[in-house]
Amino acid sequence: MDRIRIVGGAKLNGTIPISGAKNAALPLMIASLLTDRTVTLENLPRLADVSLLVRILSNQGADYSIDGRRQGEGREAGQTVHMTAREIVDTTAPYELVSRMRASFWVIAPLLARCGEARVSLPGGCAIGTRPVDLLLMALEKLGGQIEIEGGYAVAKAPKGLRGAEITFPKVTVGGTHVALMAAALAQGTTVLHNAAREPEVIDLAELLNKMGAKITGAGQSTVEITGVARLNGAKHRVLPDRIEAGTYAMAVAMTGGDVLLEGAQAHDFQAALDVLVQSGAHVESTNEGVRVSRNGGPILPVDVETAPFPAFPTDLQAQFMALMTRANGVSRITETIFENRFMHVQELARFGARIKLDGDSAVVEGVPVLKGAPVMATDLRASASLVIAALAAEGETMIQRVYHLDRGFEALERKLSLCGAEVERISAGG
Ligand code: EPZ
Repeated sequence: MDRIRIVGGAKLNGTIPISGAKNAALPLMIASLLTDRTVTLENLPRLADVSLLVRILSNQGADYSIDGRRQGEGREAGQTVHMTAREIVDTTAPYELVSRMRASFWVIAPLLARCGEARVSLPGGCAIGTRPVDLLLMALEKLGGQIEIEGGYAVAKAPKGLRGAEITFPKVTVGGTHVALMAAALAQGTTVLHNAAREPEVIDLAELLNKMGAKITGAGQSTVEITGVARLNGAKHRVLPDRIEAGTYAMAVAMTGGDVLLEGAQAHDFQAALDVLVQSGAHVESTNEGVRVSRNGGPILPVDVETAPFPAFPTDLQAQFMALMTRANGVSRITETIFENRFMHVQELARFGARIKLDGDSAVVEGVPVLKGAPVMATDLRASASLVIAALAAEGETMIQRVYHLDRGFEALERKLSLCGAEVERISAGG
């Protein structure tokens, strides 16, 4: 297994190109199953999760091809992938694949809507919590799907097709909203979603679906209306920039000091996080080219933060922000309201000398003047990013084990950071 070695202390200065968003790319790729025509996605990030999803979708019958590099295109440019599910050859998504990536459960929506049946393994829990799919199944049932749980699989049927319905989510769910959008796009009649997720990735999916011929209005608001159509066409769509990747590097710069342009980032996609960074003493500027973050000289100030659905502070930046607060000039309280167990990074941050106490769904972080490098272990994707941020500011060397977690969601992390002056290297398993 690869490791990442970081020697802390360097300020970050330069430009970091922001990749396409993983959490947009995955539902966009899954939406390609809704049509027998070609869906072309540009700016797809080179990530382990994207490659795994390609494998899952090919199992369902999707062909895919990837464009080679074009003249003048840098190494950081996203990929262009063409996906064509001319015929769905298998409506089963097996345990071996779904258990490796939760989002692949969402294939249940296009399979059911297009083929009238789907058999998809339940994803199970993961490091950050139990993560049930009851609301996704509820949405499909409202649309007329008959669902049984058999042998660990959700078996869904809609022999006469799905029909529009009113769906009220008791809790905001990104996956539930994605699933409802995809299924309702091919249902007969009109569907109204209440308390829908408003995340930028939901808007991105709705935009692709509309380009494919769907009739969706209100995406990005709590109430979304979808008028079903009989069939969807192919389309071309550019994946939106990754707000979580951008937010992660923004926090890294706030931690080390320096001045970095997050090229291509859109401030409005992670404004809550940027506002918190400003309160912590960083300087943030939105430009035509992206978002510029700097911190020169001043201390890191403590800020209390609570995660919540968009547009509030995202749970996917909670661990990274906690890393920043370990060096703050005082005490901060970080409350996690989305996932019940998303504090796996606390014990690893303690290995750098951070002082963090857990108090129910909150972590109380007492800033310390110095962190010291240590051997640490990545536990999940965003937790791993928090260890990178701590390591960048720690004295001496940190060795991060299990970096496959990082590879799921951060494209070329070590290259992007090294180009800004950090001492980061990947030590591959063989070497
Ligand atoms: C998406 O997961 C993201 N994943 C997560 O990012 C992100 O943390 C999460 O949204 C919240 O923003 C992808 O987009 C691939 P939810 P999702 O349904 O859709 C509860 C990362 O690091 N819930 O919005 O699975 C659930 O337990 C990942 O990139 C139910 O109770 O999250 C949670 O408490 C991690 N029943 C809350 O809702 C359900 O049926 C929000 O979950 C569904 C969800």
